[in-house]
Amino acid sequence: ARLAELTTLRVGGPARDLVEATTEAELVDAVRAADASGTPLLVLGGGSNLLVADAGFDGVVVRDLRRGIDATADSACAGANVTVPAGQDWDEVVATAVTEGWAGVEALSGIPGSTGATPVQNVGAYGQEVAETLASVRVYDRHERRVRMLAVGELGLGYRTSVLKRSRTDPADGAGRTWEPSGRYVVLEVSFQMRLASLSAPVRYAELARHLDVPLETRVPAAEVRDAVLALRGGKGMVLDLADHDTWSAGSFFTNPILPTAEADRLLPEDAPRYPVTDHASLGRSAVSVPVVEGVVKTSAAWLISRAGFEKGFGAPGPATLSTKHALALTNRGAATAHDLLALARTVRDGVRETFGVTLEPEPVLVGVSL
Ligand code: EPU
Repeated sequence: ARLAELTTLRVGGPARDLVEATTEAELVDAVRAADASGTPLLVLGGGSNLLVADAGFDGVVVRDLRRGIDATADSACAGANVTVPAGQDWDEVVATAVTEGWAGVEALSGIPGSTGATPVQNVGAYGQEVAETLASVRVYDRHERRVRMLAVGELGLGYRTSVLKRSRTDPADGAGRTWEPSGRYVVLEVSFQMRLASLSAPVRYAELARHLDVPLETRVPAAEVRDAVLALRGGKGMVLDLADHDTWSAGSFFTNPILPTAEADRLLPEDAPRYPVTDHASLGRSAVSVPVVEGVVKTSAAWLISRAGFEKGFGAPGPATLSTKHALALTNRGAATAHDLLALARTVRDGVRETFGVTLEPEPVLVGVSL
Protein backbone atom coordinates (compact mmCIF):
# COMPACT_ATOMS: atom_id res chain seq x y z
CA ALA A 1 0.00 0.00 0.00
CA ARG A 2 1.21 3.48 -0.83
CA LEU A 3 0.71 5.69 2.20
CA ALA A 4 -0.26 8.58 -0.08
CA GLU A 5 -3.63 6.84 -0.47
CA LEU A 6 -4.13 6.66 3.29
CA THR A 7 -3.24 10.25 4.21
CA THR A 8 -5.06 13.53 3.59
CA LEU A 9 -1.86 15.26 2.40
CA ARG A 10 -1.74 12.46 -0.16
CA VAL A 11 2.01 11.99 -0.10
CA GLY A 12 4.15 9.10 1.13
CA GLY A 13 5.68 5.98 -0.38
CA PRO A 14 4.89 2.34 0.36
CA ALA A 15 4.71 0.56 3.71
CA ARG A 16 6.72 -2.65 4.09
CA ASP A 17 3.71 -4.35 5.68
CA LEU A 18 0.10 -3.46 6.38
CA VAL A 19 -2.04 -5.10 9.07
CA GLU A 20 -5.77 -4.37 9.31
CA ALA A 21 -7.09 -5.16 12.78
CA THR A 22 -10.77 -5.84 13.36
CA THR A 23 -10.59 -6.72 17.08
CA GLU A 24 -8.63 -5.37 20.01
CA ALA A 25 -6.75 -8.69 20.26
CA GLU A 26 -5.63 -8.41 16.62
CA LEU A 27 -4.50 -4.85 17.18
CA VAL A 28 -2.52 -5.70 20.32
CA ASP A 29 -1.05 -8.81 18.69
CA ALA A 30 0.16 -6.81 15.70
CA VAL A 31 1.87 -4.31 18.01
CA ARG A 32 3.41 -7.07 20.15
CA ALA A 33 4.70 -8.88 17.05
CA ALA A 34 6.27 -5.71 15.64
CA ASP A 35 7.93 -4.89 18.96
CA ALA A 36 9.16 -8.46 19.49
CA SER A 37 10.88 -8.46 16.11
CA GLY A 38 12.18 -4.90 16.43
CA THR A 39 10.11 -3.76 13.44
CA PRO A 40 9.24 -0.05 13.29
CA LEU A 41 5.53 0.51 13.95
CA LEU A 42 3.13 3.08 12.56
CA VAL A 43 -0.41 2.97 13.92
CA LEU A 44 -2.56 4.74 11.40
CA GLY A 45 -5.80 6.52 12.26
CA GLY A 46 -7.49 8.73 9.70
CA GLY A 47 -4.18 9.79 8.17
CA SER A 48 -5.16 13.43 8.58
CA ASN A 49 -2.20 14.47 10.70
CA LEU A 50 0.68 12.71 8.97
CA LEU A 51 3.47 13.73 6.63
CA VAL A 52 5.10 10.53 5.35
CA ALA A 53 8.42 10.36 3.47
CA ASP A 54 8.45 9.74 -0.27
CA ALA A 55 10.51 6.64 0.50
CA GLY A 56 7.58 5.33 2.52
CA PHE A 57 7.77 3.49 5.81
CA ASP A 58 10.07 0.52 6.25
CA GLY A 59 8.03 -1.13 8.95
CA VAL A 60 4.55 -2.35 9.73
CA VAL A 61 1.55 -0.06 9.38
CA VAL A 62 -1.38 -1.08 11.56
CA ARG A 63 -4.89 0.14 10.80
CA ASP A 64 -7.66 -0.18 13.35
CA LEU A 65 -10.86 -1.04 11.49
CA ARG A 66 -13.05 -1.23 14.61
CA ARG A 67 -16.13 1.00 14.71
CA GLY A 68 -18.86 1.69 17.23
CA ILE A 69 -20.14 4.13 19.83
CA ASP A 70 -21.17 2.63 23.14
CA ALA A 71 -23.08 4.81 25.57
CA THR A 72 -24.74 4.55 28.95
CA ALA A 73 -26.72 7.45 30.32
CA ASP A 74 -26.23 8.24 34.00
CA SER A 75 -29.18 10.36 34.99
CA ALA A 76 -27.88 10.73 38.57
CA CYS A 77 -25.14 13.03 37.33
CA ALA A 78 -26.89 14.09 34.08
CA GLY A 79 -24.04 12.54 32.14
CA ALA A 80 -23.52 10.17 29.26
CA ASN A 81 -20.57 7.79 29.48
CA VAL A 82 -19.48 7.23 25.91
CA THR A 83 -16.86 4.63 25.00
CA VAL A 84 -15.45 4.41 21.50
CA PRO A 85 -12.85 2.14 19.87
CA ALA A 86 -9.82 4.04 18.62
CA GLY A 87 -10.51 3.37 14.94
CA GLN A 88 -13.98 4.95 14.95
CA ASP A 89 -14.31 8.08 12.81
CA TRP A 90 -14.38 11.09 15.16
CA ASP A 91 -16.92 13.19 13.34
CA GLU A 92 -19.49 10.39 13.58
CA VAL A 93 -19.03 10.52 17.34
CA VAL A 94 -19.75 14.25 17.31
CA ALA A 95 -22.75 13.82 15.03
CA THR A 96 -24.13 11.11 17.33
CA ALA A 97 -23.54 13.26 20.42
CA VAL A 98 -25.47 16.14 18.88
CA THR A 99 -28.37 13.87 17.86
CA GLU A 100 -28.50 12.12 21.24
CA GLY A 101 -28.26 15.28 23.33
CA TRP A 102 -24.77 14.76 24.78
CA ALA A 103 -23.10 18.15 25.07
CA GLY A 104 -19.45 19.16 25.11
CA VAL A 105 -18.00 18.10 21.75
CA GLU A 106 -20.24 19.96 19.28
CA ALA A 107 -17.56 22.57 18.51
CA LEU A 108 -15.24 19.71 17.50
CA SER A 109 -17.38 19.01 14.43
CA GLY A 110 -15.85 18.29 11.05
CA ILE A 111 -12.42 17.34 12.36
CA PRO A 112 -11.03 14.58 10.16
CA GLY A 113 -9.48 11.47 11.65
CA SER A 114 -10.10 8.78 14.21
CA THR A 115 -11.28 9.00 17.81
CA GLY A 116 -8.08 7.33 19.04
CA ALA A 117 -6.08 10.30 17.80
CA THR A 118 -8.09 12.83 19.78
CA PRO A 119 -6.49 12.40 23.23
CA VAL A 120 -2.98 12.09 21.74
CA GLN A 121 -2.85 15.70 20.69
CA ASN A 122 -5.77 16.92 22.79
CA VAL A 123 -7.70 17.86 19.69
CA GLY A 124 -9.28 21.27 19.93
CA ALA A 125 -11.15 23.78 17.82
CA TYR A 126 -13.57 26.68 18.19
CA GLY A 127 -13.07 27.02 21.93
CA GLN A 128 -13.39 23.34 22.89
CA GLU A 129 -10.84 20.62 23.55
CA VAL A 130 -11.37 16.91 24.13
CA ALA A 131 -9.66 17.47 27.51
CA GLU A 132 -12.97 18.90 28.72
CA THR A 133 -14.94 15.69 28.10
CA LEU A 134 -12.29 12.94 28.22
CA ALA A 135 -12.71 10.47 31.09
CA SER A 136 -10.09 7.79 30.41
CA VAL A 137 -8.09 6.12 27.68
CA ARG A 138 -7.47 2.40 27.40
CA VAL A 139 -4.02 1.84 25.92
CA TYR A 140 -1.53 -0.88 25.14
CA ASP A 141 1.67 0.21 26.90
CA ARG A 142 4.57 -0.97 24.73
CA HIS A 143 7.07 -0.46 27.56
CA GLU A 144 5.18 -2.46 30.18
CA ARG A 145 3.77 -4.74 27.47
CA ARG A 146 0.28 -4.72 28.89
CA VAL A 147 -3.10 -3.08 28.49
CA ARG A 148 -3.67 -0.19 30.91
CA MET A 149 -6.32 2.40 31.70
CA LEU A 150 -5.08 5.97 31.92
CA ALA A 151 -7.45 8.38 33.68
CA VAL A 152 -7.74 11.87 32.27
CA GLY A 153 -5.54 13.25 35.08
CA GLU A 154 -2.71 10.92 34.07
CA LEU A 155 -2.66 12.04 30.46
CA GLY A 156 -0.61 15.22 31.00
CA LEU A 157 -2.88 17.11 28.63
CA GLY A 158 -1.86 20.51 27.32
CA TYR A 159 -2.39 22.59 24.21
CA ARG A 160 -2.18 20.01 21.40
CA THR A 161 -0.19 17.61 23.60
CA SER A 162 -0.29 14.74 26.11
CA VAL A 163 2.02 12.06 27.55
CA LEU A 164 0.85 9.90 24.66
CA LYS A 165 2.27 12.39 22.16
CA ARG A 166 5.39 13.31 24.13
CA SER A 167 6.40 9.66 24.51
CA ARG A 168 7.26 9.66 20.80
CA THR A 169 10.16 12.05 21.20
CA ASP A 170 10.72 12.70 24.91
CA PRO A 171 12.51 9.96 26.89
CA ALA A 172 11.02 11.40 30.10
CA ASP A 173 7.55 10.36 28.92
CA GLY A 174 8.78 7.26 27.13
CA ALA A 175 10.31 5.36 30.07
CA GLY A 176 13.83 6.31 29.03
CA ARG A 177 13.53 5.93 25.28
CA THR A 178 11.77 7.49 22.33
CA TRP A 179 9.06 5.64 20.44
CA GLU A 180 8.84 7.28 17.03
CA PRO A 181 6.63 7.53 15.18
CA SER A 182 3.67 6.06 17.08
CA GLY A 183 4.52 6.52 20.73
CA ARG A 184 4.82 4.26 23.75
CA TYR A 185 1.05 3.93 24.11
CA VAL A 186 -1.25 2.55 21.44
CA VAL A 187 -4.73 3.90 22.04
CA LEU A 188 -7.30 1.09 22.08
CA GLU A 189 -10.42 2.82 23.34
CA VAL A 190 -11.43 6.30 24.49
CA SER A 191 -14.08 7.10 27.11
CA PHE A 192 -15.81 10.44 27.39
CA GLN A 193 -18.15 11.88 29.94
CA MET A 194 -20.57 14.23 28.24
CA ARG A 195 -23.38 16.28 29.75
CA LEU A 196 -26.97 15.28 29.01
CA ALA A 197 -28.24 18.56 27.59
CA SER A 198 -29.72 19.82 24.36
CA LEU A 199 -27.86 23.12 24.64
CA SER A 200 -24.19 23.34 23.78
CA ALA A 201 -21.34 24.11 26.14
CA PRO A 202 -20.89 27.93 26.36
CA VAL A 203 -19.59 29.33 23.07
CA ARG A 204 -16.03 30.47 23.72
CA TYR A 205 -14.63 31.38 20.29
CA ALA A 206 -15.21 34.91 18.97
CA GLU A 207 -15.51 33.89 15.33
CA LEU A 208 -18.07 31.20 16.20
CA ALA A 209 -20.09 33.56 18.42
CA ARG A 210 -20.15 36.11 15.57
CA HIS A 211 -21.29 33.48 13.10
CA LEU A 212 -24.07 32.39 15.48
CA ASP A 213 -24.85 36.02 16.25
CA VAL A 214 -24.79 35.49 20.04
CA PRO A 215 -22.55 36.95 22.78
CA LEU A 216 -19.59 34.88 23.99
CA GLU A 217 -20.41 32.38 26.77
CA THR A 218 -23.95 31.78 25.41
CA ARG A 219 -25.35 28.25 25.17
CA VAL A 220 -27.28 27.53 21.98
CA PRO A 221 -28.79 24.32 20.55
CA ALA A 222 -25.85 21.97 19.96
CA ALA A 223 -26.98 21.29 16.38
CA GLU A 224 -26.59 25.00 15.59
CA VAL A 225 -23.03 24.95 16.88
CA ARG A 226 -22.29 21.89 14.78
CA ASP A 227 -23.72 23.50 11.63
CA ALA A 228 -21.86 26.75 12.26
CA VAL A 229 -18.53 25.00 12.83
CA LEU A 230 -18.99 22.85 9.71
CA ALA A 231 -19.65 26.03 7.71
CA LEU A 232 -16.61 27.82 9.18
CA ARG A 233 -14.33 24.84 8.62
CA GLY A 234 -15.60 24.40 5.07
CA GLY A 235 -14.82 28.04 4.33
CA LYS A 236 -11.24 27.49 5.52
CA GLY A 237 -10.74 24.37 3.41
CA MET A 238 -10.59 22.20 6.54
CA VAL A 239 -13.08 19.59 5.29
CA LEU A 240 -11.50 17.03 2.97
CA ASP A 241 -12.89 17.08 -0.56
CA LEU A 242 -10.79 15.29 -3.16
CA ALA A 243 -11.99 17.71 -5.83
CA ASP A 244 -10.61 20.69 -3.88
CA HIS A 245 -6.82 20.85 -3.49
CA ASP A 246 -7.15 23.41 -0.69
CA THR A 247 -8.29 20.48 1.44
CA TRP A 248 -5.32 18.23 0.59
CA SER A 249 -3.65 19.18 3.85
CA ALA A 250 -2.95 18.05 7.40
CA GLY A 251 -5.07 20.88 8.80
CA SER A 252 -2.93 23.40 10.65
CA PHE A 253 0.67 22.60 9.76
CA PHE A 254 2.14 24.51 12.72
CA THR A 255 0.92 24.86 16.29
CA ASN A 256 0.14 28.30 17.66
CA PRO A 257 3.25 29.40 19.59
CA ILE A 258 2.96 29.76 23.37
CA LEU A 259 5.34 32.40 24.73
CA PRO A 260 6.09 33.89 28.14
CA THR A 261 4.15 37.17 28.25
CA ALA A 262 7.33 39.25 28.53
CA GLU A 263 8.81 37.55 25.47
CA ALA A 264 5.61 38.07 23.51
CA ASP A 265 5.68 41.77 24.42
CA ARG A 266 9.31 42.02 23.27
CA LEU A 267 8.97 40.06 20.02
CA LEU A 268 5.47 40.68 18.73
CA PRO A 269 3.84 43.83 17.39
CA GLU A 270 0.99 45.40 19.42
CA ASP A 271 -1.65 44.09 17.05
CA ALA A 272 -0.56 40.43 17.10
CA PRO A 273 -3.32 38.14 18.42
CA ARG A 274 -2.89 37.08 22.04
CA TYR A 275 -5.04 34.32 23.51
CA PRO A 276 -5.14 32.87 27.03
CA VAL A 277 -3.75 29.35 27.52
CA THR A 278 -6.04 26.82 29.18
CA ASP A 279 -4.85 25.27 32.43
CA HIS A 280 -5.55 21.59 31.80
CA ALA A 281 -4.47 20.44 35.24
CA SER A 282 -7.43 22.21 36.80
CA LEU A 283 -9.88 21.92 33.91
CA GLY A 284 -13.28 20.65 34.84
CA ARG A 285 -13.05 21.73 38.48
CA SER A 286 -14.50 25.10 37.64
CA ALA A 287 -17.94 25.04 36.11
CA VAL A 288 -18.12 28.79 35.63
CA SER A 289 -15.00 29.71 33.75
CA VAL A 290 -12.09 28.00 32.03
CA PRO A 291 -8.95 28.20 34.20
CA VAL A 292 -6.00 29.97 32.63
CA VAL A 293 -2.22 29.54 32.93
CA GLU A 294 -0.64 32.77 34.21
CA GLY A 295 2.42 34.32 32.60
CA VAL A 296 2.10 32.89 29.10
CA VAL A 297 0.15 33.82 25.99
CA LYS A 298 -0.70 31.95 22.81
CA THR A 299 -0.32 33.84 19.58
CA SER A 300 -1.50 32.94 16.09
CA ALA A 301 0.79 31.05 13.73
CA ALA A 302 -1.45 31.98 10.77
CA TRP A 303 -1.12 35.66 11.65
CA LEU A 304 2.68 35.45 11.99
CA ILE A 305 2.93 33.62 8.67
CA SER A 306 0.76 36.16 6.86
CA ARG A 307 2.61 39.13 8.41
CA ALA A 308 5.97 37.60 7.52
CA GLY A 309 4.88 37.92 3.89
CA PHE A 310 3.48 34.47 3.18
CA GLU A 311 0.00 35.16 1.97
CA LYS A 312 -2.68 32.57 1.35
CA GLY A 313 -1.72 30.65 -1.77
CA PHE A 314 2.01 31.36 -1.30
CA GLY A 315 4.17 29.02 -3.36
CA ALA A 316 1.98 29.01 -6.48
CA PRO A 317 2.36 27.72 -9.11
CA GLY A 318 4.43 25.10 -7.29
CA PRO A 319 3.13 21.63 -6.44
CA ALA A 320 2.93 22.58 -2.73
CA THR A 321 1.44 25.92 -1.60
CA LEU A 322 -0.24 27.51 1.37
CA SER A 323 -3.98 26.97 1.12
CA THR A 324 -5.78 29.76 -0.70
CA LYS A 325 -8.26 29.76 2.22
CA HIS A 326 -5.96 29.63 5.28
CA ALA A 327 -2.30 30.54 5.70
CA LEU A 328 -1.70 27.80 8.28
CA ALA A 329 -2.52 24.88 5.99
CA LEU A 330 0.15 23.53 3.67
CA THR A 331 -1.50 21.91 0.69
CA ASN A 332 -0.71 19.44 -2.06
CA ARG A 333 -1.92 20.85 -5.39
CA GLY A 334 -2.07 17.34 -6.84
CA ALA A 335 1.49 16.41 -7.73
CA ALA A 336 3.42 17.42 -4.57
CA THR A 337 5.92 15.12 -2.89
CA ALA A 338 6.80 15.07 0.80
CA HIS A 339 10.02 16.80 -0.27
CA ASP A 340 8.04 19.69 -1.82
CA LEU A 341 5.89 20.11 1.30
CA LEU A 342 8.93 20.08 3.58
CA ALA A 343 10.69 22.69 1.44
CA LEU A 344 7.63 24.94 1.74
CA ALA A 345 7.41 24.31 5.50
CA ARG A 346 11.07 25.27 5.94
CA THR A 347 10.65 28.46 3.91
CA VAL A 348 7.69 29.52 6.02
CA ARG A 349 9.29 28.54 9.34
CA ASP A 350 12.56 30.33 8.48
CA GLY A 351 10.76 33.45 7.24
CA VAL A 352 8.70 33.71 10.44
CA ARG A 353 11.83 33.19 12.53
CA GLU A 354 13.69 35.96 10.66
CA THR A 355 10.79 38.39 10.95
CA PHE A 356 9.67 37.74 14.53
CA GLY A 357 12.30 35.57 16.24
CA VAL A 358 9.62 32.93 16.89
CA THR A 359 10.20 29.34 15.76
CA LEU A 360 7.05 27.56 14.57
CA GLU A 361 6.72 23.89 15.49
CA PRO A 362 5.04 21.43 13.12
CA GLU A 363 1.80 19.88 14.29
CA PRO A 364 1.56 16.75 12.10
CA VAL A 365 3.52 13.61 12.87
CA LEU A 366 6.55 13.49 10.56
CA VAL A 367 7.27 9.92 9.45
CA GLY A 368 10.76 9.35 8.08
CA VAL A 369 11.34 13.07 7.52
CA SER A 370 12.25 16.06 9.66
CA LEU A 371 11.96 19.82 9.27
N1 EPU B 1 -5.21 34.39 10.32
C1 EPU B 1 -4.41 35.01 9.41
N2 EPU B 1 -4.33 34.48 8.14
C2 EPU B 1 -5.03 33.39 7.78
C3 EPU B 1 -5.87 32.75 8.72
C4 EPU B 1 -5.93 33.26 10.00
O1 EPU B 1 -3.77 36.00 9.69
O2 EPU B 1 -4.89 32.97 6.62
C5 EPU B 1 -5.23 34.91 11.71
C6 EPU B 1 -6.42 35.76 12.01
O3 EPU B 1 -5.97 36.84 12.81
C7 EPU B 1 -7.30 34.84 12.82
C8 EPU B 1 -6.27 34.00 13.57
O4 EPU B 1 -5.22 33.85 12.63
O5 EPU B 1 -8.10 35.52 13.71
C9 EPU B 1 -6.78 32.65 14.02
O6 EPU B 1 -7.24 31.91 12.91
P1 EPU B 1 -8.29 30.72 13.09
O7 EPU B 1 -9.44 31.20 13.87
O8 EPU B 1 -8.56 30.13 11.75
O9 EPU B 1 -7.55 29.67 14.01
P2 EPU B 1 -6.06 29.10 14.03
O10 EPU B 1 -5.44 29.55 15.30
O11 EPU B 1 -5.33 29.37 12.78
C10 EPU B 1 -6.75 26.96 15.36
C11 EPU B 1 -6.45 25.49 15.31
C12 EPU B 1 -7.35 24.81 14.28
C13 EPU B 1 -8.79 25.08 14.66
C14 EPU B 1 -9.03 26.57 14.70
C15 EPU B 1 -10.41 26.94 15.15
C16 EPU B 1 -4.12 25.15 15.88
C17 EPU B 1 -2.76 24.89 15.40
N3 EPU B 1 -5.07 25.28 14.95
O12 EPU B 1 -6.37 27.53 14.12
O13 EPU B 1 -7.10 23.44 14.34
O14 EPU B 1 -9.68 24.47 13.77
O15 EPU B 1 -8.11 27.17 15.64
O16 EPU B 1 -10.48 26.73 16.51
O17 EPU B 1 -4.35 25.22 17.09
C18 EPU B 1 -5.66 21.78 13.43
O18 EPU B 1 -5.16 21.73 14.55
O19 EPU B 1 -5.28 21.06 12.47
C19 EPU B 1 -6.71 22.75 13.20
C20 EPU B 1 -7.26 22.96 12.00
